[in-house]
Amino acid sequence: MRIIIYTGKGGVGKTSVAAATAKRCAASGKRTLVMSTDSAHSLSDSLELQLDGTIRSIGDNLDAIEIDILHEMETRWKEIEKYISDFMHSQGLDTISAKELAVLPGMEFMSALFYLWEFDRDNAYDVVVLDTAPTAETLRLLSFPDVSQWYIDKLYALFKRMLRVARATVGKMMEIPLPTEGFLEDLEIIRARMISVRKLLQDNSKTTIRLVVNPERMVINETKRAYTYLCLYGMTVECLVVNRLIPDEGQEGYFKKKLEEQNGYIKIIHEAFDPMPILTAYQMPTELLGDEKLNDLADMVFGKGDPTVHFSTESPMEFLDRGDLQIMSLRLPFSTKGEEELYRKQGDVLIVQVGGQRRSIRLPLVLSRS
Ligand SMILES: Nc1ncnc2c1ncn2[C@@H]1O[C@H](COP(=O)(O)OP(=O)(O)OP(=O)(O)O)[C@@H](O)[C@H]1O
Ligand SMILES: [Mg+2]
Repeated sequence: MRIIIYTGKGGVGKTSVAAATAKRCAASGKRTLVMSTDSAHSLSDSLELQLDGTIRSIGDNLDAIEIDILHEMETRWKEIEKYISDFMHSQGLDTISAKELAVLPGMEFMSALFYLWEFDRDNAYDVVVLDTAPTAETLRLLSFPDVSQWYIDKLYALFKRMLRVARATVGKMMEIPLPTEGFLEDLEIIRARMISVRKLLQDNSKTTIRLVVNPERMVINETKRAYTYLCLYGMTVECLVVNRLIPDEGQEGYFKKKLEEQNGYIKIIHEAFDPMPILTAYQMPTELLGDEKLNDLADMVFGKGDPTVHFSTESPMEFLDRGDLQIMSLRLPFSTKGEEELYRKQGDVLIVQVGGQRRSIRLPLVLSRS
């Protein structure tokens, strides 16, 4: 199963390009799903259809879903929701607030990642196209398997201890509700699945990221940061999609000036990202809504080509064996010297930090004793 993730700064055209990609994939006979993880769902608008938190068929070979956390809580996370809201309730919160608070931060990410895992396991689709929220949220989504691992380990140990004490004292000293077996099972499932999800996300024969960018200074800067962080998480960024270009012919006055500015930014993009493949789309005179416009957009971005190809496959992290020298190489483009920190935890875990983002890398055995 191919997973294509579009990300980039707010408003650059992620949703439009994702919808256009999915439509093109479906038209070529691939079983396709387009999934939005952005809570400000605009995929519905782009496709001119009403989507919801369940998978809907919206055309031949084409399904769509906008992840809806409330729906997920009622179905997938029942045990967790019940326990946390009982717990909050026991602490004096009224039922409604307790239910609200039971939605843990990042839970919608977990749902989205679970879907990917399930689709891959069941070979449910040939292609899944992900339309994500602006960069910062998407980084949270993609770092979720790393972060949740730590969190769940701690929670799990805590609850197990609680249960043990409760059993020994027949629950007498407990003022708070005890976690149920179902709750612990859910935690265990999450833990196991997040490990598989991480593998799936980092497997660049399946999963790749496409950065959508506009020819504007702020957008380019944010995109460079995103690229660094994505490399840090071991994700493969395969190409840039430069959207909303002004056509370079017949421009006068204001637009001529804009065009000069644009050429400057395109130069910056090349300096920053070469040799990464660059796909382009022009600014269209109207908003990109509905079938016809999305097809036009797909034509601009992919020509007549297959949108699922890997535009490049260079992986940001590599382990090289040079005989007596073992090398781990992690590419962190655009991070400045002094910004990276490296430290070691519990023997075989290496923590790499760049700016505010951090990743723990489990070292292969050959490196763990270095
Ligand atoms: N090439 C284009 N020509 C004309 N309009 C465009 C083009 N690309 C995007 N748009 C329009 O720009 C607006 C924002 O696009 P879109 O919703 O795809 O961006 P986004 O990156 O998903 O935004 P958000 O960060 O809010 O999710 C939409 O109204 C869309 O129709
Ligand atoms: Mg969007």
